[in-house]
Amino acid sequence: MGKHIVITGVSTGIGRDALGLLHQKGYHIYGSVRKKADAKLLTKAYPQRFTPLIFDVQDQAAATQAAKLVFEECDRIDALINNAGIAVPGPLQFVNEEDFEKQMDINLKSVRRITNTFLPLLGTATDFKGKPGRIINISSISGLLSVPFNGVYSISKHALESMTDVYRRELRRYGIKVIAIEPGPIKTKIWGKNLNSMEQFVDTDYYDILQNANKIIENTEKNAFPVSRTSDVILKCVTKKHPKTRYIVHKNAFIFKIFANYLPDKLLDWFINRALSKGKRHRPV
Ligand SMILES: NC(=O)c1ccc[n+]([C@@H]2O[C@H](COP(=O)([O-])OP(=O)(O)OC[C@H]3O[C@@H](n4cnc5c(N)ncnc54)[C@H](OP(=O)(O)O)[C@@H]3O)[C@@H](O)[C@H]2O)c1
Repeated sequence: MGKHIVITGVSTGIGRDALGLLHQKGYHIYGSVRKKADAKLLTKAYPQRFTPLIFDVQDQAAATQAAKLVFEECDRIDALINNAGIAVPGPLQFVNEEDFEKQMDINLKSVRRITNTFLPLLGTATDFKGKPGRIINISSISGLLSVPFNGVYSISKHALESMTDVYRRELRRYGIKVIAIEPGPIKTKIWGKNLNSMEQFVDTDYYDILQNANKIIENTEKNAFPVSRTSDVILKCVTKKHPKTRYIVHKNAFIFKIFANYLPDKLLDWFINRALSKGKRHRPV
């Protein structure tokens, strides 16, 4: 019986690197992509033990259809890694309804849809045999600390933190472990996708802060960890006998925890405002 893992969003970034490491460790990876061209490229790079699943996480029918193949080929999977995600920037006051909904749908609602699709293979099927699988949600430190002007993303990741806890407590009876990984800045394409994105809000009262946005994004990229750091943690979540319930991947994880959990709100507000006004600091994502 082989070792199988499903990962969403393997075309670039964190998902792409995790695919490489887990494949190297002998797993068969079912990786989701949206474009046929990405499926072709990855199949060429990994002619064995890689199967592309082509679907958009917003499309339940397409996900169910793609999952059929996994159900045909596997009795169980070792892990589901919910990685696909986007970051919608902008002040909460001005982000339009459509973008707000898209952010929530991709980063949060789709995680429930995809998880429920694969749950039978993780351990909930009545005839399930073997070791239950694990669910690994790629959250963010923005799910622990609310970040202004990146607030819609932050809200989606806070809700994902809660969803992770709920699933973990509910799925305990099946032996399915549910883990959140909370990366700080990681060098991926997500940054480039956000450059100049604040320009649509220049005519608002927030312009003085938002004009630093590109500088902040560039600083963030400079200070970001390489993707291998998240892959190492993902591997630990898949293989460790007793994994923790959450892992922060950040240069100053301990200090970040103190900031997020113990600093009085007003002091935290002051720190965040100072960092944003100067544009020198990197922002958490
Ligand atoms: N980079 C960071 O600093 C950082 C920090 C904390 C958390 N994270 C989280 O890490 C995860 C991966 O992000 P990344 O940094 O690796 O960014 P990325 O390079 O932009 O990768 C995002 C992946 O998600 C896929 N995706 C986006 N929307 C999708 C949809 N509707 N359906 C299916 N797939 C979709 C993308 O596919 P396409 O190529 O088809 O668009 C891509 O494969 C996200 O959940 C993000 O929030 C990232």
